[in-house]
Amino acid sequence: MSQKANYWNSVYQSKQTDEVSWFQAEPKASLEAIAQCGGRSMSVIDIGGGASRLVGALLDQRRRDVTVLDISAKALTLSRARLGAEGDHVAWIATDITTWRPQRQWDIWHDRAVFHFLTEAADRTAYLRALKQAVRSGGFAILASFAPEGPDSCSGLPVQKYSPESLAAELGAEFELQRSWEETHETPNGGAQAFTWCLFKKI
Ligand SMILES: C[S@@+](CC[C@H](N)C(=O)[O-])C[C@H]1O[C@@H](n2cnc3c(N)ncnc32)[C@H](O)[C@@H]1O
Repeated sequence: MSQKANYWNSVYQSKQTDEVSWFQAEPKASLEAIAQCGGRSMSVIDIGGGASRLVGALLDQRRRDVTVLDISAKALTLSRARLGAEGDHVAWIATDITTWRPQRQWDIWHDRAVFHFLTEAADRTAYLRALKQAVRSGGFAILASFAPEGPDSCSGLPVQKYSPESLAAELGAEFELQRSWEETHETPNGGAQAFTWCLFKKI
């Protein structure tokens, strides 16, 4: 197992899922952004979904093509256990996004608080290669990363902060920025974290 996978597994082993700084009881912004992409028959992949409640909320909407990818097998196990039998309807992929080779395409790529951990240019290039392969033409990419006034680190790791313009520059001309907005996430400890949200359409 890689050092990175070990690191994230230990994070999920040492804290309850509702204690981590990124915890949200209700993934409101994610659901709103996904709803803007179109109907509920659209396939969704949650990149770095961890133990997020998003997958359960998507299943509650009767979505039947939902994939969750994360480097931490521990996080996926926790998420699956919470869902019980419903978890059988989800495709779970335990892998590092920077080495992953997608075997199919999705309508919607969702990433909340993952891309900003890729502080090495080579890792961002690898992530973007996977994104471009995995999203079908006319499909969507939703990215939520720390905003310029957001934190400099998360969970002990440095992060790269983004404005809508700098995120759009990373994705390149193949992706058209449809909408961007800022959200302040309230952490379980009462802190505030500024996020940049962007909804892109693949041309
Ligand atoms: C801050 S958490 C966000 C979790 C989830 N997206 C949410 O909003 O609750 C970052 C997640 O990204 C995962 N992660 C970090 N680096 C990754 C990588 N290289 N490939 C895949 N997942 C990664 C971590 O295991 C963790 O679950």
